[in-house]
Amino acid sequence: RSSEDDDGLPHATKKKMADHLRKYEALFTLTPQRMRIVVEAFKESLELGLAKHGQVVPMIPTYVFGWPTGQETGSYLAVDLGGTNLRVCLVTLQGDGKFEITQSKYRLTEEQKQEDGQILFDFCAECLKAFIDSNIESGVIEKDQVLPLGFTFSYPCAQERIDHGVLIRWTKGFGSPNTEGHDVVAMFRKSLAKHSVPAEVVALTCDTTGTLIASHYVNPKTRIACIFGTGCNAAYMERAGDIPKIQELGIDPNAEIAINCEWGAFDSFEHENLPRTKYDIIIDETSNKPGEQAFEKLISGRYLGEILRLIICELIDEGVLFLGQNTYKVEIAYSFDTAFLSLMESDPTDELLMIIGIFSHFFALETTLAERQFFRALAKLVARRAARLSACGIAAIVSKMNYLEDGCAVGADGSLYNKYPGFAERIHEGLQDIFGEKGKTIVTYHAEDGSGIGSAIVAAMTKARRDAGLY
Ligand code: GLC
Repeated sequence: RSSEDDDGLPHATKKKMADHLRKYEALFTLTPQRMRIVVEAFKESLELGLAKHGQVVPMIPTYVFGWPTGQETGSYLAVDLGGTNLRVCLVTLQGDGKFEITQSKYRLTEEQKQEDGQILFDFCAECLKAFIDSNIESGVIEKDQVLPLGFTFSYPCAQERIDHGVLIRWTKGFGSPNTEGHDVVAMFRKSLAKHSVPAEVVALTCDTTGTLIASHYVNPKTRIACIFGTGCNAAYMERAGDIPKIQELGIDPNAEIAINCEWGAFDSFEHENLPRTKYDIIIDETSNKPGEQAFEKLISGRYLGEILRLIICELIDEGVLFLGQNTYKVEIAYSFDTAFLSLMESDPTDELLMIIGIFSHFFALETTLAERQFFRALAKLVARRAARLSACGIAAIVSKMNYLEDGCAVGADGSLYNKYPGFAERIHEGLQDIFGEKGKTIVTYHAEDGSGIGSAIVAAMTKARRDAGLY
């Protein structure tokens, strides 16, 4: 018997890898019982956030009152500063749940995410100006027309009204100075004025709130919206009377108001409820915001690739992987994109050729079939945990709002949800592990473009309220 198998890997190494896989399985697998415990703690955090200002999960009242009618009309600009891209859109709502959209997208560089806040908003204004100019040229926008604008700014902002929001903290790796603690609408207006952009900011929204509204516009069974992308968050509609922290505003207790949960912050600082591994702890401690966004760091696209990379690096250090090869490329932080996990799981070939390609092309590393199978198994563990934790968040809102009896639709968007194979199925599986058969009544579906269409609908709803003399 030779000490090597057909794939060229020594038996001893293979045995070690199988042992490792078992270890990772134990670390990354969430049992139904553990999930139910997380849901209970999550629910408590949501309640606390509604009760008092400044809690771990902020539960932000957005001043978006109630659902759209589907009859909203008009042309609106939307600027969407997301985690990865800046998008500018022109949306025309046609009044019967239909719309048209034209848009331009700009990839943000890592440097831009760290530049002074005002410079970042200047960039948004410049891109919007170029977009408007080209639409004037092609005759889509009239010259001298000042269009209402919805600003989708997907970071936690404390709001006092719809066209105002003080940035509580940057998330998703942003760190632009002189922005936290400032009203981002005022800052953006300053940039618009500086560049003479003919647009009037009427509403500030988060991508989740926009998604909630846009999804309901086309599917009125929608009660919750989630984003699973670079970041992770949810929004839903709450009775004003059930939000103790805004009672002094004198809002009709039966009015409904959208809540931007900012649930990515769940379990931040104290870390009492989530099953963090040492890889999660390294990510947290080396991030620009240690202690913060604890839930998001286990789930969102910004971090999943990094979790896998840290495991790979550990096994390199232990002499299990890539012996004799130069591993410097894979040792660079954040070099392992979450899209690679997605590709690894979707590789249809027996030889796992796509995985060969990822490692050779991006990291100059050769892999054996056994290693590739191991990586694929790891990707599955990391992504499955993310989906099951996401199910815990959804379950917390469902359980708090008693949506289980009648069931509800959950509009979901973001690259992880849309592109990662099996992510939605794993969420549904998780919901059934939490609620049993009844969990089947909670169904997620690919949402409408909340940051573009949703933002425009919110701008239209705001204009209608203003015209009716409401704020
Ligand atoms: C982060 C942001 C949140 C956003 C989410 C998804 O969690 O703080 O506002 O909704 O990412 O983009």
